[in-house]
Amino acid sequence: MTDDDKKIPLSQPDINEDDIEAVARCLRSGRLSRGPWVEEFEAGLAEFIGTKHAIAVSSGTAALHILMVGLGLRPGDEVITTPFSFIASTNCILYAGARPVFVDIDPHSLNLDPRLLDCALTDRTKMILPVHVFGRPCAMDALMSFADQHILDVVEDACEAIGSRYRSQSVGSFGIAAALAFYPNKQITTGEGGAIVTNDPFLAELCRALRNQARAESGASSHYSRLGFNYRITDLQCALGISQLRRIRQLVARRSEVAGWYRELLADVKEIILPVPPEEGAEISWCLFVIRLSDRFGEGDRDLVLERMAENGIECHAYFPVIHREAFIRKELGPIPGSFPVAEAVAARTVALPFSSVMSREQVERVCNALKASLVRRASRRC
Ligand SMILES: Cc1ncc(COP(=O)(O)O)c(C=O)c1O
Repeated sequence: MTDDDKKIPLSQPDINEDDIEAVARCLRSGRLSRGPWVEEFEAGLAEFIGTKHAIAVSSGTAALHILMVGLGLRPGDEVITTPFSFIASTNCILYAGARPVFVDIDPHSLNLDPRLLDCALTDRTKMILPVHVFGRPCAMDALMSFADQHILDVVEDACEAIGSRYRSQSVGSFGIAAALAFYPNKQITTGEGGAIVTNDPFLAELCRALRNQARAESGASSHYSRLGFNYRITDLQCALGISQLRRIRQLVARRSEVAGWYRELLADVKEIILPVPPEEGAEISWCLFVIRLSDRFGEGDRDLVLERMAENGIECHAYFPVIHREAFIRKELGPIPGSFPVAEAVAARTVALPFSSVMSREQVERVCNALKASLVRRASRRC
């Protein structure tokens, strides 16, 4: 076995022979784009999430961007969102010329704290963009009732949360629309890819048009009603997506098993904080398994743990860095109102551990042993 074989990557797609055959069948058909696989994938996604419409696009970021444009965000509008997320959930607001307004996170769920929404509300607030971080559902009851009370759109960033449920309802079906993503670290993958899900027929039609340059066909000619994009996904990608979606429950269950092993093997490690169990009525479809060093450690300690893990051939990641600290965001936004002590304290201590549905118990044990050893070294240095 070479050293490379022993390496444990941060994530790995779960591809089987059916997936390969599905893509090969699409290739043999000659229909590589705007063909029947796109429609079939969309129908499967809508059914799985429980929405009337799904529009498959080239990435989760594209899905979010189309939604910001389709929902009519304009320069000067404000969108309340979380600073503890993948950068795309803030970038999409900036693409539309609108302003992200950050709200701190709940220290347990690591999702936007609905108790703080009031402080962020202004006359310019148009939308709330909650992110179901690492697959954990946001507190949708509180978020939706605040949004209803103040007549705000809710767009769920469910890019990490396909398969998660809240009060027996799929995440992604609460707001006016949601974005899904299918990068290879996600529960199901299309290589690159994403989708919009919504019950709104007008929004669905608009998103469909915006994905394809806002093109309208009439007979043999076409025209363009407004500024659109090329955010199309290919049939090749959708053929893989259909095959993956067929076994999504199995993939999600397998991820849950891996998360369970981590919980069991790390339960007694007092130097770390494990992800809390889902709140009553919620189910997590795990996208990433992220632990935190306890409060007596700092960012430097965390970075050394990452280094030690890398030395052992185990790929971990500091996930997420807080968005409001990125230099370009500060340049774009100028002074950022509010403070985000929880997000900052969490982001300084997180370690995303290798996670996928193809991990073996033995690999999880290796990760946990290496983590414990690196923590012992850090802890003894601090005494
Ligand atoms: C929370 C979140 N939002 C948006 C995205 C964007 O998805 P994509 O990388 O497909 O553009 C991701 C992808 O990792 C994500 O994790």
